[in-house]
Amino acid sequence: MLILSVETSCDETSAAVIQDGNKILSNIVASQINSHQRFGGVVPEIASRHHVEYITLIIEEAMKEAEVDFDDLDGVAVTEGPGLVGALLVGVNAAKAIAFAHNLPLIPVNHIAGHIYANQLMEPLEFPLLALVVSGGHTELIYMKEHGSFEVIGETRDDAAGEAYDKIGRVIGVPYPGGKHIDEMAQVGEDTFDFPRAMIHEDNYDFSFSGLKSSFINTVHNANQKGETLDKNNLAASFQNAVVEVLVDKTIRAAKEYEVKQVMLAGGVAANTGLREGLKEAVAEELEGVQLVIPPLSLTGDNAAMIGAAAFLDREEPQNIDLALNAQPGLMLNLV
Ligand code: KG4
Ligand code: ZN
Repeated sequence: MLILSVETSCDETSAAVIQDGNKILSNIVASQINSHQRFGGVVPEIASRHHVEYITLIIEEAMKEAEVDFDDLDGVAVTEGPGLVGALLVGVNAAKAIAFAHNLPLIPVNHIAGHIYANQLMEPLEFPLLALVVSGGHTELIYMKEHGSFEVIGETRDDAAGEAYDKIGRVIGVPYPGGKHIDEMAQVGEDTFDFPRAMIHEDNYDFSFSGLKSSFINTVHNANQKGETLDKNNLAASFQNAVVEVLVDKTIRAAKEYEVKQVMLAGGVAANTGLREGLKEAVAEELEGVQLVIPPLSLTGDNAAMIGAAAFLDREEPQNIDLALNAQPGLMLNLV
């Protein structure tokens, strides 16, 4: 089974060819970060224009690298949502055109399901499992009892983890998106500021990062007003420890309560060194017999391979070419 998949929900234009939902034949990702950096965030209009410019080239490259023809394909998968509407539309229309021209089934995929299924490109999923999804727009603990069944058992009440990273990155002057830079600085700094670990003792699996963000910003502003200079690496390390501690603590607690067989990390913030290490240590120490799956860095950020892996979900269903498919910017994960 060969799927061509397309992802254009935010600022990466990506196409991939995936075999049997778990083997990557190609995964081409064109990032637009350079175009958005000077604005300090993703500008939706610019994102859509870049997608239009690149989508055909990226799809051609993915097909060429995989050494397959359109006639070899069994379906075309595309991110339906959530994401920026103008950006999503470019991918949806490109996928529709290919499906129509080659008489192929069109498979809509939820972007968040895609982030989780990136792990299927590493290991077969074993149920029940718990996924910690951490990205620029999401922070969720998702329980899955079988393929295609997603139960959100905890989520952020305010900022997403990646969003908090990017906002404090701006305050200490690193380029957008700040997550990666803060992570690098945290490697050389020490946790000297003792920022709050919000909701860590509460009896639920929800998160909150806006208090931590405010505490960080106030600390920096107060120092500026007094003419003091704070160690940026220590600030980064203190922020990172506060984020990682809460994420790891709640993930371990949920994994115990739900008695899962697998714990997996997903989304752009899954690239974070502190989170990867913290989760590895905690799972080894506290969850006997539970397998931890962490995607390689090439599969943590937005990419089409993960969309092709999640498209395999529908393999038992009869497929139609649904040309009425539309972008769904606020698409939720189906709760089953
Ligand atoms: O999944 P993703 O590529 O896009 C969304 O769907 O949001 O995630 C992007 C987010 C950004 O907020 C970025 O700063 C964050 O992932 N990120 C990181 C790291 N690498 C990327 N955050 C912390 N540490 C990292 N190493
Ligand atoms: Zn994403």
